[in-house]
Amino acid sequence: MPILDERSLEFHSHSPEQTRRLGVRLGELLKPGDLVCLAGDLGSGKTTLAQGIARGWGALDAVTSPTFIVINQYRRADHAVLYHVDAFRLSGEAEAEALGLRELFEEGGPVLIEWPERVQGLLPERRLWIGLRWVDESRRRVHIRATGPRYEALMRRFRRAAFGG
Ligand SMILES: Nc1ncnc2c1ncn2[C@@H]1O[C@H](COP(=O)(O)OP(=O)(O)O)[C@@H](O)[C@H]1O
Ligand SMILES: [Mg+2]
Repeated sequence: MPILDERSLEFHSHSPEQTRRLGVRLGELLKPGDLVCLAGDLGSGKTTLAQGIARGWGALDAVTSPTFIVINQYRRADHAVLYHVDAFRLSGEAEAEALGLRELFEEGGPVLIEWPERVQGLLPERRLWIGLRWVDESRRRVHIRATGPRYEALMRRFRRAAFGG
């Protein structure tokens, strides 16, 4: 597993199950206010990873919000909420703002966002950015970049939890 530098990490996942397991490791570390961006083409594994993250965080089940599909809420036994945003169908930043995306970042439980490029202008600078890339049918390249001290610490903890390094 190449450690690129203090702020980034790159590895391969060899199966959807491994991607989910890695997500669980990350989800266990998330705190309110954390932002995790999940970038990559269709089928690269963003949702698979998000499912693992939600499970690791302690999600009981997915509750579809009134904004149907765009923002899903996962709840935990202690009533904490994790938001899972899929910006794919958003027409742009204006629509994202109308849906209250900015408030989610400010107010919220952890936020996972797929297709973050579509709402780039609304994203806080400090975040964890995970880029997924299709390698072959069962393999994906995962690239993690941390911006800001909280996310650098989060990435280090994740590295230790997932790879023991
Ligand atoms: N290593 C892997 N990691 C994640 N998904 C994988 C992997 N190998 C194969 N897949 C498959 O690729 C697809 C990824 O779909 P999904 O997670 O919905 O992607 P996205 O949300 O990026 O469009 C799933 O059908 C999954 O089973
Ligand atoms: Mg998806």
